[in-house]
Amino acid sequence: MSTVSPPAATAVVSAEHLTKRFHQGDSVVEAIKDVSLKIEDGEFVALMGASGSGKSTFLHVMAGLTRPDEGTLTIADTDLSRLSDSRLTHFRRRKIGLVFQAFNLIPTLTAEENITLPLLTDGRSEQIEDRLEPLLDRLGLMARRHHRPDALSGGEQQRVAIARSLITQPALILADEPTGSLDSVNGQNICRLLRELSEEQRRTIVVVTHEPSVAVWASRIVVMKDGRILTEFRASDFQDAQSLAIHYQNVIKSAIPA
Ligand SMILES: Nc1ncnc2c1ncn2[C@@H]1O[C@H](COP(=O)(O)OP(=O)(O)O)[C@@H](O)[C@H]1O
Ligand SMILES: [Mg+2]
Repeated sequence: MSTVSPPAATAVVSAEHLTKRFHQGDSVVEAIKDVSLKIEDGEFVALMGASGSGKSTFLHVMAGLTRPDEGTLTIADTDLSRLSDSRLTHFRRRKIGLVFQAFNLIPTLTAEENITLPLLTDGRSEQIEDRLEPLLDRLGLMARRHHRPDALSGGEQQRVAIARSLITQPALILADEPTGSLDSVNGQNICRLLRELSEEQRRTIVVVTHEPSVAVWASRIVVMKDGRILTEFRASDFQDAQSLAIHYQNVIKSAIPA
């Protein structure tokens, strides 16, 4: 390894001309088409769009779960297309934190065991001691640490999932409809938590959502339609979720069909 480091690149995500196709029988669906996006270190981005617009596919490509058919993707200075499958898995474990709508916790493990699992599977159990307690404390889970998922509320389960995504101190947190299984109060609390994490810890976070009430918490909102990035705007341009929702609907309606 060279002792002279290159200047730090600030883009955590650099996606260029990404296309992903799915083949179903004789037909081909282009789930994302020529998608280019840069996300800087510490940004909180909402990827917004209707069902089927390609949000999850884009998120899965950014996570290294799906390989694009075309285009290049650099995450934290690593060109993912150059990685073998096993190196990609290793990269994902170290650099990407994933949060899903359905929480995806292991039902037989306690909250604490779910949170520490990514360090254990990566052979980094020595990091548990320093990281677990501050995380439990920050996410308000100290009193729930020994409970299994079925004894936790939905909001608590999602906080456990967020803690699990943070414990590896990844370069990028990707959350796919993280409030989709929660009532509006718990959903808003999860949004507030993500926003606070981005501000306090400069976490780089991408949240996929179709809800303006979620997107409004992000600093930057990227709108997808029919597999393409249609436009983007700043949440600070809007007073509240309702005015964001009106603008979003207008943008979607006035878009020329692909
Ligand atoms: N594994 C898959 N096989 C076939 N088609 C898929 C697959 N995943 C997504 N698609 C299709 O790609 C398009 C975009 O889907 P998706 O990325 O899930 O959108 P969103 O998350 O915005 O709802 C949809 O037409 C969907 O049916
Ligand atoms: Mg989706």
